[in-house]
Amino acid sequence: MNESERHLRLLTETTEAVNSSLDLEEVLSLIARKVAEALEADACFVYLYDERGDQLILRATYGAQLGEEARKPRMRIGEGLTGSSAAIRQPVMIAEGANLDPRFKAFKNLPEGEYESILAVPILAREKLEGALNVRTRHRREFSQAEIDLLVAIAGQVAQSIQHARLYEQARQRVHELEALAKISEAVSESLYVEESLEAIVKTTMQAVAATGAAIVLEDGRIAWPEGRKGKYAVRIPLRWRRRQVGELVCDKDTPFSDGERALLGSIAHHAAVAIEHGRAVMRGVLAQEIHHRVKNNLQTVASLLRLHARADNVDVQQVLADSVNRILAIAAVHEVLTERRDDDVELADLIERLRKTIAQGLGSSKNVSTRLEQISLPGGQATALALVFTELLQNAFEHGGDNVTIELSQSEGEVQLTVADDGLGMSGEGKGIGLEIVRALVNDELHGKLEMRNENGLRAGISFPL
Ligand SMILES: Nc1ncnc2c1ncn2[C@@H]1O[C@H](COP(=O)(O)OP(=O)(O)OP(=O)(O)O)[C@@H](O)[C@H]1O
Ligand SMILES: [Mg+2]
Repeated sequence: MNESERHLRLLTETTEAVNSSLDLEEVLSLIARKVAEALEADACFVYLYDERGDQLILRATYGAQLGEEARKPRMRIGEGLTGSSAAIRQPVMIAEGANLDPRFKAFKNLPEGEYESILAVPILAREKLEGALNVRTRHRREFSQAEIDLLVAIAGQVAQSIQHARLYEQARQRVHELEALAKISEAVSESLYVEESLEAIVKTTMQAVAATGAAIVLEDGRIAWPEGRKGKYAVRIPLRWRRRQVGELVCDKDTPFSDGERALLGSIAHHAAVAIEHGRAVMRGVLAQEIHHRVKNNLQTVASLLRLHARADNVDVQQVLADSVNRILAIAAVHEVLTERRDDDVELADLIERLRKTIAQGLGSSKNVSTRLEQISLPGGQATALALVFTELLQNAFEHGGDNVTIELSQSEGEVQLTVADDGLGMSGEGKGIGLEIVRALVNDELHGKLEMRNENGLRAGISFPL
């Protein structure tokens, strides 16, 4: 077998071996080994071209051990002997003293001083630079033109394998990402509680990028689901919803984050933002349930008010209906404030103003009313009780009292005071009617407070209860 037959066989064998795998790491280490064997060299270094960084990154070696260093040796195109061959797209050969060449670039973790010769060639797939590789020998060696041609031919063949393996790796990465994202979407749409979604997101993040730690920092600085520990490298990705930042995804690793991993974390961060917003929407749903619950309670209150009338003797049906309307309107006013504000608490001054108008209108009263109201908020249930009490007291002032009515709302030492005073004749007798019966019951049972009625230039009816 002559030399060219032998070279053709080496070329075929190398190409076949390299094509036996689609796994990029495996393909590259196969190239390193097969090339070293084919050219009977002491070592082979295979670099891949990183388009974004416009640089060559060492990805596989044969015959030489890479020192313990996290960062892989990399060089720009035109830098070092191998970089030069990539730049001129031609083989570069030095038979001896390769490390003395002015183009030589030394790497701390690469023992290159021990090699005398080098033959470096670019890896080109149809003109496109995929990488570069070189073979080294410890002793002086002049590579023959036939050997140079062989290495160029091998580099041309493996360029295709590298392209395929790269595409395959990208596809696999996509699948991996999509799986992670699908898991997150599922968790987000299935769980009713934000906490659950965030937990799933943090756990999936850990798995997806093999992180040492991950967490989601919420807007208020609260850290949701911290997992694992800090690493040497960390990324923080903002969670955005409609251009507003609603938190941050934090992820830690002991090795640098690849571009693919950063992109994946970006998608995960998007899902996390959706989960947080979804959670808020669910909370609004819960709020709606809370309102339904209040409506039911209010209807029960209405029912018991009507039952009071049903128990009484000599009822004037017309009057009963008129009073009931006002009582129901009082409940409605609280409800209105609650839904308008989308808040759990009711602002009392606002509520009292509304009720005052409704009652004056309802009774056709044109009395002179003056108010002194402090800003105080009460939870919905208590506010409903207060609204009913106030309605009865104001109604009484309009119906039985003088022309001038004063309403005062204040707060001191954790107690709320509400007074309705008029300048009429004051109360004679004990005041036995359904109106005051309702007031007493609510002040006692709902507000846990006291009712005080004094004649003082008319009736001064006041209640006080703890906030
Ligand atoms: N501001 C007031 N000035 C004078 N008398 C009052 C005043 N408020 C209440 N009273 C007296 O107390 C009584 C009982 O009041 P209560 O509110 O319980 O019943 P009512 O007003 O007669 O009927 P309703 O059930 O419609 O309220 C009244 O009938 C009235 O005589
Ligand atoms: Mg009354």
